[in-house]
Amino acid sequence: MSKITQGKFKILSNKRVGPDCFKMAIGAPAIVRKAAPGQFVHLRCLNSTEPLLRRPFSLHRINRNNFEILYRAVGRGTNLLAKKRKGDKIDVLGPLGNGFQLSAFSYQLSAILVAGGIGVAPLLALAEKLIKAQRKKDILVLLGVKNKKQILCERDFKRLGARVQIASDDGTRGYKGLVTGLLRKVLRTNEPTNQRTNELTIYACGPKPMLKEIAQISFRLGMAAYASLEENMACGVGACLGCAIKTRESYKRVCKDGPVFNLKEIRW
Ligand code: FES
Repeated sequence: MSKITQGKFKILSNKRVGPDCFKMAIGAPAIVRKAAPGQFVHLRCLNSTEPLLRRPFSLHRINRNNFEILYRAVGRGTNLLAKKRKGDKIDVLGPLGNGFQLSAFSYQLSAILVAGGIGVAPLLALAEKLIKAQRKKDILVLLGVKNKKQILCERDFKRLGARVQIASDDGTRGYKGLVTGLLRKVLRTNEPTNQRTNELTIYACGPKPMLKEIAQISFRLGMAAYASLEENMACGVGACLGCAIKTRESYKRVCKDGPVFNLKEIRW
């Protein structure tokens, strides 16, 4: 694993991008030099020991001298984070964990990126990397949201040249229903991917029931599928075992052995 850096870095921006969602850019060349899509950083939300624990955030975008995180302000830590201003310093530990395996994404393959809600966060960095690695790749992004107000990053993906389809629970935009329903539909109609399913790779991030369903779909169709898992984390570096999950081999730590796993590995 790449070396981990800990230090205080300057916040370059912290903007609201949705009803309760924010995007923060942090200038940290020492971290971005070693970072890969799918890895995460552990941030101290207040510059004191209270709240004591850090919070994990996936790398949303990895730029030349800074990285971005995309987060929902839902609890004490993230609400404190939302109050931070440009120029404030923040304690960062990272990059942590193992990122997405891109080896499965060979020349012939296309990818479907499936996001549930804020699970879109690590998938933008991944799309940037996939498109940079091979510009002709066909990337379809499926964004699952509760309603159209919660759509995040649609324009960012389109700007990269990826195609985007939306699934909303209330039908205010796109397919009405869960994003896994939209995935089934896309695979059934073989449109617009126009690929044999075993030539597709799925990359996903979102709630566990969504990932479990994607695991079942991909297993049945013989597709490769990888996901970034979300777990509560205390240490973030593999020491406390607080983030352990059951896999076919043994228990594994999401922070150290993941957060990206082959979905076939997981025992649901
Ligand atoms: Fe401590 Fe993963 S958070 S082992």
